[in-house]
Amino acid sequence: MAALTFGQAQAAESGEALLKSKCMGCHIPEGNDALSRISHQRKTPEGWLMSIARMQVMHGLQIGDDDRRTLVKYLADKQGLAPSETEGVRYAMERRLNTVEQFDEQLGQMCGRCHSSARVALQRRPAKEWEHLVHFHLGQWPSLEYQAQSRDRDWLDLALKQMVPDLAKRFPLEDQAWTDWQKTRPKADVLPGQWSFSGHMLAKGDVRGVMTVTADAGDTFRVDVKGQYADGSPFTGSGSAILYNGYEWRGNVKVGETNMRQVFAAIDGEMKGRMFEAEHDERGLDFSAVKEGNARLLAVQPAFIKAGSETELTLVGSGLSGAPELGAGLEVVKVLDSAPTQLRVKVKAAADAAPGLRSVTLGQLAGVELAVYKDIAEVKVVPAFSVARVGDNGGSTPKVQGRFEAEAWGKGADGKPYRIGYLPAKWSVEPFDERAEEDEDVKFAGQMQKDGVFVPGGAGPNPERKMMTNNAGNLKVIAELEEGGHKGQGQLIVTVQRWNNPPLP
Ligand code: HEC
Ligand code: HEC
Repeated sequence: MAALTFGQAQAAESGEALLKSKCMGCHIPEGNDALSRISHQRKTPEGWLMSIARMQVMHGLQIGDDDRRTLVKYLADKQGLAPSETEGVRYAMERRLNTVEQFDEQLGQMCGRCHSSARVALQRRPAKEWEHLVHFHLGQWPSLEYQAQSRDRDWLDLALKQMVPDLAKRFPLEDQAWTDWQKTRPKADVLPGQWSFSGHMLAKGDVRGVMTVTADAGDTFRVDVKGQYADGSPFTGSGSAILYNGYEWRGNVKVGETNMRQVFAAIDGEMKGRMFEAEHDERGLDFSAVKEGNARLLAVQPAFIKAGSETELTLVGSGLSGAPELGAGLEVVKVLDSAPTQLRVKVKAAADAAPGLRSVTLGQLAGVELAVYKDIAEVKVVPAFSVARVGDNGGSTPKVQGRFEAEAWGKGADGKPYRIGYLPAKWSVEPFDERAEEDEDVKFAGQMQKDGVFVPGGAGPNPERKMMTNNAGNLKVIAELEEGGHKGQGQLIVTVQRWNNPPLP
């Protein structure tokens, strides 16, 4: 009881008051309630959390967890990013750590070699603040200039003369998108209700169900999920969530015995993003949801059918009724189950149904595609490139798995490739190159399981390896489709633990 009262009293101090009591000792008031540095930046909730955490670690700021939460919420609302400003770089917040970034070479080499370039692209500052940031980097990490991709150039000169103006132009403090968003952003009270969701976890399968959102105090919510994977295993649990800046949804939901995080953008009656295990962020699902009252088709599971076969398809969405139109050659034999959020049908595909993608329509609803295939033209391993990490073995860091699926592609009548979907495959690994062969990486780096999950080896030096090295490795990941025997290949680097694991990579 005492703890509860204390928590409430703590939370009662507003963000504004906390800025004064906690930050003003070092950050100078500039009039108009502005503070030096702090008032001239915009960033994500994770970005604010990292800045404040750095104040604690490096500058001795004293702040309790509750007050820090209050400040992150206050700053992320007041100085956040518009949805269009996070588009294309949400993977960093969503912790998709296998993302191969697509930025220009200069940004990648100058800034994106210690952390993701997304960390940069998820901030907005005027030139002066980008400049302070450059000086802070060199002051804090003076060895920066001697490292690879610095010692071959005049890093500081390039950073100040080229990067600063470039960053101020690309990622400016003030822009129309932010001005507009502040005027139009919705309040948290548009979110409570029933959300029909669809997702997919690599090496596990599709999932679907309903998420119930109930309003709690101060832009927070109670969350209950009730659903199941395509293989019938349950996906049920509950937890809480908070909304930042009108659309940044962050949830903590315990599903079965596993704590999962939700990082979604909640916009226009839809939520999109990723839901992943708190302790194993490589185990996550692409997630999308639509709120009741918005008649919409979200997904069809599975999103493919073979010509000449009969199968069950489930349409997921909101306001669903009737039977879907699937186009020539596909016949809905029977509606097996009909609820506004899920419609399960038995479908028969004629042997001569035209291969390719076609849109699924249900009354007025559309926007979802179904692949019809006859032959498989190609198989891709997803992800094509990924990183697993050794762990456990008495150490403090768990193993980071590799998780793979075999993505089948067909060739349409127009000769163009089209995605069919994930199909069952046999999995194996091979040495990626001669070096990997010589070092016996396949033997030491870990085990590829039947389901496409790679479990890396134990942490620490291995006396059985050359020079007692870690169980690192460089492997080819090979998928052989059960149907037709086509093969696809990806690359998996097995490496050491990630010791420093901040919210934004
Ligand atoms: C003990 C002194 C001290 C306190 C207290 C302090 N800061 Fe700072 N802050 C600094 C210094 C020094 C820098 C510049 C170096 C750096 O960026 O780490 C800085 C920089 C910053 C920056 C700019 C970082 C960047 O990436 O450019 C932000 C944002 C910030 N502080 C936020 C806060 C907030 C919010 C608080 C209060 C919760 C706070 N600080 C409290 C000393 C402090
Ligand atoms: C030598 C490695 C290194 C290089 C090169 C580097 N950074 Fe960083 N950067 C860091 C580290 C370490 C942090 C601090 C993380 C933390 O908060 O603990 C950081 C933090 C940041 C932050 C977050 C700061 C905040 O508080 O908001 C931004 C933004 C950033 N870097 C941008 C850049 C840009 C832009 C460049 C290129 C001009 C760059 N970085 C180059 C290592 C690097």
